[in-house]
Amino acid sequence: MKREAKREARRKTRQETRPKTTMHQRVGVGIVGVFVVSAIVSIAIADITGSKHDFSPLGWSQNEICKPCHTPHNADTSIEAPLWNHTQTTAVYELYASPTLSGDIQQPGPASKLCLSCHDGTVALDSYGENAGDHYIYGQTLIGTDLSNDHPVGIKWEHRGVGSNCLDCHNIRPGPGEDPMVSILPFFEDARIECATCHEPHNKLGIEGMLRMSNDGSALCFHCHDPK
Ligand code: HEC
Ligand code: HEC
Ligand code: HEC
Ligand code: HEC
Ligand code: HEC
Repeated sequence: MKREAKREARRKTRQETRPKTTMHQRVGVGIVGVFVVSAIVSIAIADITGSKHDFSPLGWSQNEICKPCHTPHNADTSIEAPLWNHTQTTAVYELYASPTLSGDIQQPGPASKLCLSCHDGTVALDSYGENAGDHYIYGQTLIGTDLSNDHPVGIKWEHRGVGSNCLDCHNIRPGPGEDPMVSILPFFEDARIECATCHEPHNKLGIEGMLRMSNDGSALCFHCHDPK
């Protein structure tokens, strides 16, 4: 209930702070700039089971799948995530930079911090609930605190480099109650890209790399980039 109220309040704030659509008039279509935080949908347990996020076979997980990340009780409500159980990272990150980058880049947003709380290697994987934890991520999935060599996160969406594939993301004539954004990839607060823009942490879709869409033929990249 409380969470719903919070979400409603956030939705309102977004609507209020949404820039008035000047470009909107210019392109002359009924696109409304609203972004979507993925809706609550049921999780098919079968998909996370056996995925890289199924830690139940590992000794430290007490044979639980959800618990390293969520708890039904005593969740940390200071963290913006559903019933969150894992200790949050406090790291400060080195950000991606380049002479051609034009968007506003900031420290990773709350959604990315959920991931970095294991993937930056500063917090133990088993630091959740009552556990202090002493198992750390290693190998290829350790992203670290230097994000300068990773695809930018905490970056605000810009239409730069996008071609005519507007319909990949926008519903030009939304009916009543229809979402004007139809992107398979969700954008977060302030239209920023975070880890879960490209990834789905429950492996719901069963796509390699726990991606939200297949990157075969670089399809994922083309959803946002149209290099010409
Ligand atoms: C490795 C961490 C991790 C594990 C394990 C995990 N989740 Fe999640 N879960 C997340 C994150 C991160 C989010 C927020 C997703 C976002 O921001 O889009 C989330 C969101 C959710 C949500 C709300 C949004 C949605 O995607 O539906 C539900 C419900 C949920 N998880 C249930 C579960 C259940 C049930 C399990 C165990 C079967 C589980 N999760 C296991 C990380 C995890
Ligand atoms: C959800 C949309 C989205 C997806 C998907 C996406 N990108 Fe990006 N990418 C962006 C945005 C936004 C920027 C920042 C561009 C800017 O502000 O100049 C960016 C930045 C970049 C940059 C740095 C550009 C520079 O000027 O330094 C590269 C390279 C890049 N992306 C490649 C990729 C590749 C390769 C993929 C596929 C694996 C991909 N992107 C997927 C949105 C996306
Ligand atoms: C509780 C700790 C934890 C959290 C939280 C977590 N991860 Fe992971 N993740 C891991 C570990 C550990 C592995 C590597 C497991 C292995 O190699 O067996 C992994 C693997 C992955 C992989 C590799 C998948 C593959 O099939 O190769 C991706 C992608 C990934 N995580 C993305 C994310 C994203 C995105 C989030 C946030 C939405 C997230 N993770 C949150 C611990 C976590
Ligand atoms: C990869 C997804 C994506 C594609 C493709 C895309 N947009 Fe957008 N668009 C967005 C996002 C995200 C926003 C920001 C929504 C917000 O601020 O809440 C946005 C906002 C807008 C807005 C509202 C004004 C503004 O700038 O905030 C207009 C108008 C717009 N887009 C037009 C277009 C047109 C025209 C095209 C095709 C040339 C296009 N978009 C292609 C993602 C996309
Ligand atoms: C723009 C899209 C995009 C964003 C944003 C993104 N990833 Fe990925 N990620 C990918 C793709 C595509 C792959 C698969 C790479 C491959 O197979 O070569 C991947 C692979 C991974 C892997 C597997 C290890 C590896 O190097 O192949 C992990 C772990 C991971 N991502 C975690 C994260 C985390 C944590 C974040 C946020 C800090 C994040 N990703 C943000 C697209 C993205």
